[in-house]
Amino acid sequence: MAKKNTQYQCQSCGTIVRQWAGRCFKCGAWESIIEQVVIPENKSGASGYTGTSAEGVVLLESVEASETERFKTGWDECDRVLGGGLVVGSVTLLGGDPGVGKSTLILQLLCNLGAKKHKVLYVTGEESSEQVALRAERMGLDRSACWLYSAVDMDSILSAIKKEQSKIVVIDSIQTMVLSSLQSAAGSISQVRECAMMLTHLAKQTGVSIILIGHMTKEGHVAGPRVLEHMVDTVLYLEGEQSGRYRLMRASKNRFGAVHELGVFAMMEDGMREVKHPSLLFMSKATQSASGSVVMALWEGSRSLLVELQALVDESHGQNPRRVVVGLDGQRVNMLLALLHKHAGVATHASDVFINVVGGLKVTETASDLALAMAIVSSLNNWVLPRGLMVVGECGLNGEVRPIQQGQARLQAAVKHGITVVIMPKANQLKVPKGIQCIQVAHIREAKIALSALAETQKIATAQ
Ligand code: TYD
Ligand code: MG
Repeated sequence: MAKKNTQYQCQSCGTIVRQWAGRCFKCGAWESIIEQVVIPENKSGASGYTGTSAEGVVLLESVEASETERFKTGWDECDRVLGGGLVVGSVTLLGGDPGVGKSTLILQLLCNLGAKKHKVLYVTGEESSEQVALRAERMGLDRSACWLYSAVDMDSILSAIKKEQSKIVVIDSIQTMVLSSLQSAAGSISQVRECAMMLTHLAKQTGVSIILIGHMTKEGHVAGPRVLEHMVDTVLYLEGEQSGRYRLMRASKNRFGAVHELGVFAMMEDGMREVKHPSLLFMSKATQSASGSVVMALWEGSRSLLVELQALVDESHGQNPRRVVVGLDGQRVNMLLALLHKHAGVATHASDVFINVVGGLKVTETASDLALAMAIVSSLNNWVLPRGLMVVGECGLNGEVRPIQQGQARLQAAVKHGITVVIMPKANQLKVPKGIQCIQVAHIREAKIALSALAETQKIATAQ
């Protein structure tokens, strides 16, 4: 039975029920009923999401659009992803797999901000105060200006924030926080949602900037950050393989800036360090040319990154040839394999295909199509390609090579890092720097012919 100030509601059809049930009696949806806090009638509508009253209806043009005030975090990589710094009064969600380094990164960030005379508060629900202190000491951080509060009860946390008049607050993590008026356990959808809602209200009313740390669960993100994404202003994700050193920060939503910016960090023995020039991070350090490796230039918000895509195509001995893809979309790879067969006569139905992106990066850009296709062609035919080659272009289902965004900028970034031969879409208008061989193609077949010629030249060069 619900407590006095809570109720149970089906998220699917909106029906309010007396008590929790696994299935809604009205619409039949499973696991859709969740516990909610009831806002008393006289209060609802009096103040809106931003804390302004309903009387304040104004004309858009009469509102003065002032520049958003931001805190500089002291890390360019982080500020860039945020769109220029942490916005005053904003709520930011930092999501990521457990152990990826969220607490480490955020503790460093808070100590940086504290040292700049901003009042910061770190609320730890996961680790004890001693553990956090030990970590800060081990990382050699300036601990003199960072306030710490070890708590999980939402009411005490809200009063602590108000009493301390903190300007920047970190909640580590939102899944450990509990609102005592709710019956459900910490980490359940209703707890996570209601706690985040209260913190969001506080941020909008008092102007405190709040960073919520949230774990992503690999299976379906049930009580994880996905529930919160629509509630907060900015959603950042920290990703990277735990076995590797590099961590990547991306914004998947940002009400105060662009998304698609990428921040690169390295996890060291003494905490995180920003990587300011990551252009060559995602390239293998191989000195010898090999078949199946093709470099492409990714466009990440405002800069270009060179990334090496690797393909291994080998004769299959099983009934179902294997398709193993790491760092790219498996469906896209299947589409490219079909496209190569239909429009370029490249048959892989009797081969195992393995695809990998060097450095653990996740490539989502369609401009990687042509590079991937050429890596597959190169591996299948054992064509060794010159090391200074870059391929970039998007493929259409008819085998046509489509233009890409920021073609000129990608070309320039590639040339700066030693690329001497490029295969790019014909439709891109390019100013080719002197000494660079630029092969522009309109169809995947043309790209294959160009690749074959390059492999031939490489063969002659190696033989000499
Ligand atoms: P942590 O920040 O606790 O991860 P999260 O909060 O995302 O769960 O980071 C834990 C990992 O980071 C742990 O496996 C050890 C590693 N680590 C370092 O490599 N160097 C360091 O200085 C610290 C503090 C942690
Ligand atoms: Mg943590």
